[in-house]
Amino acid sequence: MVYTNSVPGPRVSFTAAGGPAVPSPPPDAAARRPPAEPTRRPTAWRDPLTTPPAPRRARLHRATTDRAYLSADGESYLAQTTLRELRKERPLRVLSEEDFAHWQTYGYVVVREAIPAEAARRLLDFTWDFQGLDPDRPDGWYEDRPFRSQLDRQLHVYGFVEAYHHQLLWDSRQAQRVYDAFVDVWDCEELWVTLDRLNLNPPNTGNRDRALIEPTERGFDIELHWDIDTTLGVPPQRVQGIIALNDTAPETGGFQCCPELFRGFERWRAAQSAGRDPIRPDVDRSEFPVVRPDLGPGDLLIWNGLLAHGVARNASRNGVRAVQYLSMMPALEEHEKLRRSRVESWRHLRTPRWNRTLVGDMVRHESLRYPTAELTPLGERLLGLASWHGTQGPDTAGGRSGEPVCTASA
Ligand SMILES: [Fe+2]
Repeated sequence: MVYTNSVPGPRVSFTAAGGPAVPSPPPDAAARRPPAEPTRRPTAWRDPLTTPPAPRRARLHRATTDRAYLSADGESYLAQTTLRELRKERPLRVLSEEDFAHWQTYGYVVVREAIPAEAARRLLDFTWDFQGLDPDRPDGWYEDRPFRSQLDRQLHVYGFVEAYHHQLLWDSRQAQRVYDAFVDVWDCEELWVTLDRLNLNPPNTGNRDRALIEPTERGFDIELHWDIDTTLGVPPQRVQGIIALNDTAPETGGFQCCPELFRGFERWRAAQSAGRDPIRPDVDRSEFPVVRPDLGPGDLLIWNGLLAHGVARNASRNGVRAVQYLSMMPALEEHEKLRRSRVESWRHLRTPRWNRTLVGDMVRHESLRYPTAELTPLGERLLGLASWHGTQGPDTAGGRSGEPVCTASA
């Protein structure tokens, strides 16, 4: 299948798998095959815990990159070549050749100490402090608290921490090694960083027990899911990431994934029938094992949206799982509304609006706790405050002259 964009700029065609068209099978083979999955317009699947509802007829914007990346929302992208088939034009900066091959084959890669381990520990201390929890007093991790909604309750069970703009979070975002790793996977330099939060997941018992969340037959499953609709004819390209704030351990759960399914995805998909769950894989785990990569403080794990993944429950006695969510995508500088929203979010410590499950801390919002984070020149570009190509917008001009950016230290 070929999808052609209709946005201004160079005309670009996209193939279903990012490669050459697949020849038709002989008639007898076609008769043996299960009914083909329906081909629909390529939009990302949206999981209620991670993404907002899609605006209708959203306009595609072309990213500020020489490689053709198109997106309506700055989260999922149409690309001329899928990330797993991309041929590098720029030299690798952080990943080794083996790392890059692993990324393309299995759908994830680990960058050791993408931020210094000491920086990760400071961020972990901040995370405890922000939540008002004492790492040495497990009893206090389960105190009753009010919930504004069912969503609030779920976020508590999963351990989300509603901090987005503290200086320490921004220090990770503007770390050169983190940025360079994402340049490696997208093969372009003009990126925006996601404005995302933290996770501090104590043992899943008491009011953090996952049993408090009603299980469902279909759709999002915290244990294993895809972040995109995998039945689409042209699955969008999406990249996600976490930075570990402490050592992983088998009993504390955390990120897990199904790399063999990623590797053999096209073959597996061809054998599926119509109507399968687009985001919850139904696979034999002996054939497609679920693995849990070992991470240490400061390690960055990047995964492809087409990698089935999830978060294993914390079954330990007193251990916690802690991460910062952090990813980078091709910058959509022409999407002015989105760009302004990002800048205002940083400047005024507003809860980012790209995802309806980002709800802000209900006890004491972060805007009441600390000032605007200071950005480096790289950080300004990763936010959208400054342009990657040096065109001076009002934000950039103000920032450089000291006016809005200096509110950072106000
Ligand atoms: Fe996910």
